[in-house]
Parts: sequence; structure tokens; C-alpha cells
Amino acid sequence: MLRKLLIGTALASGLAFAAHAEDVKEVQMLHWWTSGGEAAALNVLKGDLAKEGYAWKDVPVAGGGGDPAMVALKAMVAAGNPPTASQMLGYTALDYAAAGKMGDITAIAVKEGWDKVVPAALQKFTVYEGKWVAVPVNVHSVNWLWINKAVMDKIGGTEPKTFDDLIALLDKAKAAGVIPLALGGQNWQEATMFDSVVLSTGGPEFYKKAFNDLDDASLKSDTMKKSFDNLAKLVTYVDPNFSGRDWNLATAMVIKGDALVQVMGDWAKGEFHAANKTPGTDFLCYRFPGTDGSVVYNSDVFGMFDVSDDRKAAQAALATATLSKSFQSAFNVVKGSVPARTDVPDTDFDACGKKGIADLKAANEKGTLFGSLAQGYGAPPAIANAYKDVVTKFVHGQIKTSDEAVTELVKAIDDAR
Ligand code: BGC
Repeated sequence: MLRKLLIGTALASGLAFAAHAEDVKEVQMLHWWTSGGEAAALNVLKGDLAKEGYAWKDVPVAGGGGDPAMVALKAMVAAGNPPTASQMLGYTALDYAAAGKMGDITAIAVKEGWDKVVPAALQKFTVYEGKWVAVPVNVHSVNWLWINKAVMDKIGGTEPKTFDDLIALLDKAKAAGVIPLALGGQNWQEATMFDSVVLSTGGPEFYKKAFNDLDDASLKSDTMKKSFDNLAKLVTYVDPNFSGRDWNLATAMVIKGDALVQVMGDWAKGEFHAANKTPGTDFLCYRFPGTDGSVVYNSDVFGMFDVSDDRKAAQAALATATLSKSFQSAFNVVKGSVPARTDVPDTDFDACGKKGIADLKAANEKGTLFGSLAQGYGAPPAIANAYKDVVTKFVHGQIKTSDEAVTELVKAIDDAR
């Protein structure tokens, strides 16, 4: 129903566009930023564009991780009514480019020298056959713990440095009658957490081989089995109502002190920020134990569609605004992510943001920056979806043992290759 409505609106506005002879002073954007923190971050962009004289036409499609949004986008594009731009992850912009649906913003990129300030790891996903087709908005990373400080103090907890430390900490929370682990039982949240578990269990080389290179031996290894065993252990610490819970509601449990910790990408910090919470005082951000020194990342990009001539000026304004240094700081401070440019000072970021920026730089230099498989940066969407499917079946008991999980994972990935 929502989709029909959205597509209806899109068709109507497409007609309106055709009727205008001069430039359309409006940016139409499809995205899944519907939580409090996400909406606050988006407001920064709306404000910047308003200053340039561009109105905002919102096409929100709720659903963290963006799968429902991508279904809605596909329908709009198929109907010949692409938005000015859409939030996208990973290989999506490249796929639309291969299908001839993306615009070409290379002239702006060249004029503004993007190739010198956008990390090469991101350019891989925004440049197709030498042409810029998308603009990176941020860099998120998934291997974080978000902890309520008052609960931590109450149980006398300290930063867990190993997976066993984490289990001991969760036990303390349990003994104190607090929900130890806030989790939303949706496939993308479970797989996002599993990315961290695999990195922690197998180390950086293993993560890369298994989840970026899709190396068969690593996927079927004992280390992968151990990773599933560790995931199963973690899941014993969630409350019985976790199935289907939205990620931001899980974050709210930690913010309120109903739960000790959430394992989630740093968009969770956007929720703490929106609730006026301060790191070190109200909450703590630690790398998932055993993963400090590595960054498992995803990056939101705005894919720029091949729009009609009268909409190109608005698209160019959006591209320029998005990669401006001031926006990259202001937006990412609110969003919880870090800038997609290497030359943005960390001055305005809180302690977690400063750590995020430093970690990204160090990981990039050391070769320990890896794409998140759950977030579409480890492999193309069909493989990421196969992965999410196996992880969620394991978490919800449809796959019963770690042996079976490994077999199913190898099979699902092979089928999707
Ligand atoms: C996106 C984030 C977003 C999160 C939850 C991730 O896939 O990269 O920007 O906040 O999903 O909606």
C-alpha cells in the first residue's frame, strides 16, 4: 500500500516535472532515514539545500538496512520516474549504472577535486567505468558496542577486551536483573552483529577471506562454525520480545537503561545524540571485543539518476552540498558516522566520533578496513541477502546447529554467486 502510494506520488510529480520549461527547484530523495537520529541528520541536508533555494521532496521508505526502500526504488525506476537521488549501499549504484539508469556527475567531481579527498575504498562504489554516478555521504562502521553507563557502573563492569569478557559482562547484567543484550530480531540487524562476531572470532585476515573474498575454505572452516557458536551464545542474552523489533527501539532500551548493551553500527550513536546523551557520561562506545584496530564499514551514498534536463541543476546542487566539508562535518556529527572525505577536521565530533575518524584512518593505512557483508559492502546484494537469510534462520532456530549453519551458508552463497 505504502509502495503504491509512493509510486503514485512519484508518477504525479514526474508529470509535473515534464510540464516545467525551466529548472525544477526541488530535490526528490528516496531514503530509509526515518528514526529520530536519522531524521535529525537529514534535516541538516534539507537546511543546506533550502539556503541554495531548493525545496525538498521526501520519499521515505521505513525499514532499517534499506531492503524495503530498494524494492520501492526499483519500482520507481521501472516506471520511468527515478528520484533525483536515492540513498544506496554498496554495489547498488554500480548495478543501476550498468543498467544505464544513472546520471553522470563527473564534471562536478573533477571541478571539486573529489578523487583527491574521497578514499579509494569508497570510489570503488561511486565511480562506474570512469564516471561518477554517486556521492558518498558518510562512513559508518558496524563493529561497535553501545553501553548504558549508569547500568555499567551499577554492575561494576569494565570494557570487555575479549569475547569471553563480553560474556562475563552480560552475565553480570543478567544477575542484576537488566536485559543484557538489546537486539532487534530482523535479518539485517542479526547479520550486522554477526559481522562483528566473525571478525572477533577469526581476526582480520579471516574476516577478509571469508566475507570479502568469499573464500570457500574459510566459509566452511571450523572458525566459521565457532563464530556461529559465539553468535548462539550472544543470543541467549536477549529478551523474549526481540523478534521483529526495530533497531532504534533496541537502541532506546540501552538509552533508557532497560538494557546494558547493543551491538550495532554507529547510526545507533545518532539516537543517543538525538536524546542529548553524552559519551563517557551517559553512554560508552567500545569496539566489539577483539576487533579494535579493524573497521568493518558501510557508506551511505546518494545514487544520482539520469534525470531530465530540468532536474539536473537540482541534482548538481545536491551533489555539491553533500560533499562540502562543512556538510560532511555537520551531518556526520548528528548521524553518528564519520566524514567520507579525508580532510574534514574532527573538532566538532564527540569522543566516539573522534575515535571513529582515527580508527578509519588507521585501518585504511594498515589494510584492516573491510566491507560489511551484512551492509552490502562485502559482496553484491544477492550474496548479502543469502547471508542475512542463513544468519536469521540460525538465530530464530530454523537452522539448529552451527554445523548446519556453515553448510547452509556455503550453499546459499554458492547459489547466489
Ligand atoms: C544505513 C544507515 C542507517 C541504518 C539504519 C544502514 O544500512 O547505512 O545510514 O542509519 O541502516 O536505518
